Amino acid sequence: MTGEEASGFLFHWEPGVATGPVLVMLHGTGGSEHDLVPLGQRLLPGAPILSPRGRVLERGMPRFFRRLAEGVFDHDNVRDEADALATWIGSFVTTADLAPRPRVAVGYSNGANIAAAMLLRHQDLFQGAVLLRPMVPLPEHYRGESSSSRVLVIAGQRDPIAPVAQAEELAKRLEESGSRVDLVVVPASHELSADDLRLAQQFLHQFS
Ligand code: MLT
Repeated sequence: MTGEEASGFLFHWEPGVATGPVLVMLHGTGGSEHDLVPLGQRLLPGAPILSPRGRVLERGMPRFFRRLAEGVFDHDNVRDEADALATWIGSFVTTADLAPRPRVAVGYSNGANIAAAMLLRHQDLFQGAVLLRPMVPLPEHYRGESSSSRVLVIAGQRDPIAPVAQAEELAKRLEESGSRVDLVVVPASHELSADDLRLAQQFLHQFS
């Protein structure tokens, strides 16, 4: 099913099987709500998939928040969009009666960055996350005690867009906020590789 909510988030929704985790798939710059659906289906066959489209446009390319230049983020907009998306996901989950099931975000690049912002600012929204080629989305630190979320961060060794140092710093920030984080560096650039798929599949088993 494809739809649009009053908040302006276009989305793709697949109800999937009746038990187990719900995947929230978050695309990269220039992507859409359809982009990562096949990845979600491969990662956890049969899982419900909720996949929104970022509502910010950069020269016609959808994103989850504005940036001022490559790698320079509009932090006010990151906060606003992370809060709006978290609220939208929360109400979708409640309306679709999914609240008792684990929610796991899977984000790539810009989608990983908005997932990280939501993990930091809305610590009960996700029980898990896979962040593929992320960066630190916000300058401020978030402290938390008992967030039970488990996060897998995967950086590409030769990634010029989201350098390994950014993934390392993000992993630290997420730990400070209470998440348990695994950081893996794969021999790849910004594009995803077979290693990403394998590592994410292994990680997601714990939520089934
Ligand atoms: C971003 O959020 O800007 C990304 O990390 C880089 C990109 O989307 O190209």
